[in-house]
Amino acid sequence: MSETNNNKIDRIVSLCKRRGFVFPGSEIYGGLSNSWDYGPLGVELKNNIKKLWWQIFVTSRDDMVGMDGAIIMNPKVWEASGHVATFNDLLVECLSCHQRFDRGKLENGKCSNCGKTKFTEPRQFNTLFKTYIGTVEDAKSTAYLRPETAQAIFVNFKNILDTARMTLPFGIAQQGKAFRNEITPGNFIFRTREFEQMEIEYFIPRPEKDVDWQRQFEYWINQVHLWLKAIGVDAKKVDDFEVPDSERAHYSKRTIDFMYEFPFGTKELYGLAYRTDFDLKNHEQFSEKNLKYKDAATGEEFWPHVIEPSFGVDRTMLAVLCEAYSDDGDRVILKLKPYLAPYQAAVFPLLANKPQLVEKARAVYQKLKLPITNCQLPMNVAWDERGNIGKRYYAQDEIGTPWCVTIDFQTLEDDTVTVRDRDSAKQERVALKDVPAFIMERMMPR
Ligand code: GAP
Repeated sequence: MSETNNNKIDRIVSLCKRRGFVFPGSEIYGGLSNSWDYGPLGVELKNNIKKLWWQIFVTSRDDMVGMDGAIIMNPKVWEASGHVATFNDLLVECLSCHQRFDRGKLENGKCSNCGKTKFTEPRQFNTLFKTYIGTVEDAKSTAYLRPETAQAIFVNFKNILDTARMTLPFGIAQQGKAFRNEITPGNFIFRTREFEQMEIEYFIPRPEKDVDWQRQFEYWINQVHLWLKAIGVDAKKVDDFEVPDSERAHYSKRTIDFMYEFPFGTKELYGLAYRTDFDLKNHEQFSEKNLKYKDAATGEEFWPHVIEPSFGVDRTMLAVLCEAYSDDGDRVILKLKPYLAPYQAAVFPLLANKPQLVEKARAVYQKLKLPITNCQLPMNVAWDERGNIGKRYYAQDEIGTPWCVTIDFQTLEDDTVTVRDRDSAKQERVALKDVPAFIMERMMPR
């Protein structure tokens, strides 16, 4: 990793803390290693990412429905899915400093703590997060925090078929927390023990030939790339890695890892797997409930096959921040896509000590902040009257606000304002009544 890149992630972490995107978890108690809390701006950015994903993959499509399952499920789910038996990483311990590592994630075969290269023999470590249900802590009360959102979708397959009356091919999507007792978490919010996923299980008819599922698989590769474009991730920094047989998860017949050039190295951003009929078949066997799909025309019953695009929310946020972050030494600009930015606009009175400017600016601010009026998309709007106007612009650039609306003396005369663009720093005079349309027009995905 180059010095500059190394430095870039440090600067992003520092910006996140300074401006309220991401804080170290449990900080007042000395923190909890590799846990992070999302602050006021971080939660807006994260919610905008999740909202956009939901619009693109669920509400704008006829072949998709969503769901939101429980985090703690019947432990049999994880036996049927294979996680209890095989959700393992290889644990090794440094013979010198006794730090433990996931062998698969060791950089250059060296201990990152002391630099030595001698380790214990690897042993299997199951990364399911265990807990107990009720008052007794024993084998019978053992449960797990879900390691992926996917299984709630398979478990509810029949419920959703019966209620939503979907016909193949169709998908079920879910967003939510997942937990893994990672041996080597790290790199800020890249790998944590508690994280969020956005997953789709896309059910397809039982393939007659390989070409049938391969066609669907290629379609989803393309969808992932379209998504990356929508969130502003540079295609040149993404590599589709074909995961070899020996490294694929137990359920997968083909996997692509979408590798992104993070400042700390090229690492997995998302995954796409062909899960065959592994999950529905196993859940039918373990639950003894019929989880087959019935073809309305032929009456034939079968387990659909599944293509699964899986997106980490926190990794998305990190990639989005890495792409958007730019600094020229002393000035930071976060060039976020406008629809992802925590605020779409900021409103200022030119001078904070002129009551007539403040009053007018307040009225503009309240109006823009109002939820959907005239069929406009909802906007989040910031207010700032501190310091001079230049400092306010810089403060908004740093958090990615694409447009700053300034109310000045001319506004009082002709109801026009200046709108300043974050990326070009250009200012335009716009009629106050046209400001929402001006912003909305420029906010749409380009
Ligand atoms: N249902 C399939 C599945 O969970 P995965 O490759 O293990 O597949 C999917 O995880 C995505 O979840 C990853 O590509 C990544 O974006 C995210 N992810 C996985 N483990 C993570 C962790 N420890 N911290 C943050 N994100 C993680």
